[in-house]
Amino acid sequence: MSDRITIFDTTLRDGEQSPGASMNLEEKIQVARQLEKLNVDVIEAGFPIASEGDFEAVRAVARVLKKTEVAGLCRASRKDIDRAWEALKEAKKPRIHTFIATSDIHVKLKLQKTHDEVRDAAVNAVRHAAGYTPNVEFSAEDAARSNVSYLCEVIEAVIEAGARTVNIPDTVGYAIPDEFGALIATIMERVPNIHKAVVSVHCHNDLGLSVANSLAAVQAGARQVECTINGIGERAGNASLEEIVMGIRTRRDHLKVHTDIRTEEIYRSSRLVSSITGILVQQNKAVVGANAFAHEAGIHQDGMLKEKTTYEIMTPESVGIKESTLVLGKHSGRHAFKKRLEELRIELGDEEVERAFVAFKRLADKKKTVYDEDIEALIAEEILRLPDRYRLISVTFTSGTGVVPSATVEMEVDGKTITRAEFGDGPVDAVFKAIKKISKSKAKLLRFTVSAITGGADAMGGVTVRIKDNGHTIIGQGTSPDIVVASARAFINALNKLHYRKGTAVGEKPSL
Ligand code: KIV
Ligand code: ZN
Repeated sequence: MSDRITIFDTTLRDGEQSPGASMNLEEKIQVARQLEKLNVDVIEAGFPIASEGDFEAVRAVARVLKKTEVAGLCRASRKDIDRAWEALKEAKKPRIHTFIATSDIHVKLKLQKTHDEVRDAAVNAVRHAAGYTPNVEFSAEDAARSNVSYLCEVIEAVIEAGARTVNIPDTVGYAIPDEFGALIATIMERVPNIHKAVVSVHCHNDLGLSVANSLAAVQAGARQVECTINGIGERAGNASLEEIVMGIRTRRDHLKVHTDIRTEEIYRSSRLVSSITGILVQQNKAVVGANAFAHEAGIHQDGMLKEKTTYEIMTPESVGIKESTLVLGKHSGRHAFKKRLEELRIELGDEEVERAFVAFKRLADKKKTVYDEDIEALIAEEILRLPDRYRLISVTFTSGTGVVPSATVEMEVDGKTITRAEFGDGPVDAVFKAIKKISKSKAKLLRFTVSAITGGADAMGGVTVRIKDNGHTIIGQGTSPDIVVASARAFINALNKLHYRKGTAVGEKPSL
């Protein structure tokens, strides 16, 4: 058996199912390009029949990727598969990923079918998909809670029908590692034609065991792992790519397998997905959290100074974390700026570079040193955004002890300038009230998070807001050295996304 593990990334599909994590087309393409640099083997770009937006995203990703396989998800139905193929057909390496649930609870209560009907639907779907491409993956949804004999019967039948990869999801994150490993071992043993397919796993994190379950499955013979950047995904998320990959790399001695991931791209991928989705990475998150390589205790610091391996099982450099160097400031020219973009591997057209440079100069006037993270935030915020309906022109506010906080906001709405002043419980509240009046928005603020993106007293502040309007939950982000200005930008960013979302949403996504 090969000792290479295929990394199947589903950040753009299952990851995007995280509440509030929706990405627009440009953002999905940006993430897909970064995943290609990370060298993942397969990118699941979406669920084409779910909406017009998903279809377009899968098609666009299929067109731009140079070497990575692109998968599109579809239920076990001809209509879904035809639609998926339509979106995938221009990919260099397309993969149709079809699924149907096999657990009693799903078969009887959700699908309201008999077990034979489900097996036949799975076989027919795989056969139909195999008519388009030999690269067909079949997933037995809720496999971890399925009857093992029935699961083996379905797997054997779909391999016979042409499935090249059979995926065993722990859809509800219910499994325990030794149990899940044993399930994979049973499948390897009992399914007579299993050698004709790659066994894959897809673990959810409801009990915090998704990575452990995936690694247990690898030890039992699974050779594909499905995962997402930062572990984002439905409910508590999916197995996190960075933890799986670094687990395999760091404990190669024990696991005896490897991946072809360019681990130095991990941190950049994590930052990109976090900044686009607005889902912050917890400080103590393994591999990519702010504290993952920070040593606080005196004894640890002493050990580190003597010999790094005393307390470090992998190096920050191996995942692409480096000391941020203060390379740019207000005297830096266009050439230095372009070179930095190249080093950061940010690819922009000439016109975008020009706009980015102007924005950088504006920032450098306010901030003594501009760090890599500042540049990344600036590009995400000011350059890669969709054309905005609402634009912040200016914001002024008064606040402090003994004064009623107030704010005046000037905005452009559909090309028209509108100004409004409001009082509030604090300056941010006053700013939000003014923005709501100007935009005539009824959106409700669900969450407000402030974080320092860079270090020092002149740090760039990042604000993330989560708003809800008419059933849509949207994340908005803003950055500025001034937290109140960052808040205004974040709120306006969310309103712009909301406007885009209302305009493009085509029906509800079918639930999985
Ligand atoms: O969790 C799950 O079962 C899935 C399948 C569609 C692969 O996401
Ligand atoms: Zn899933």
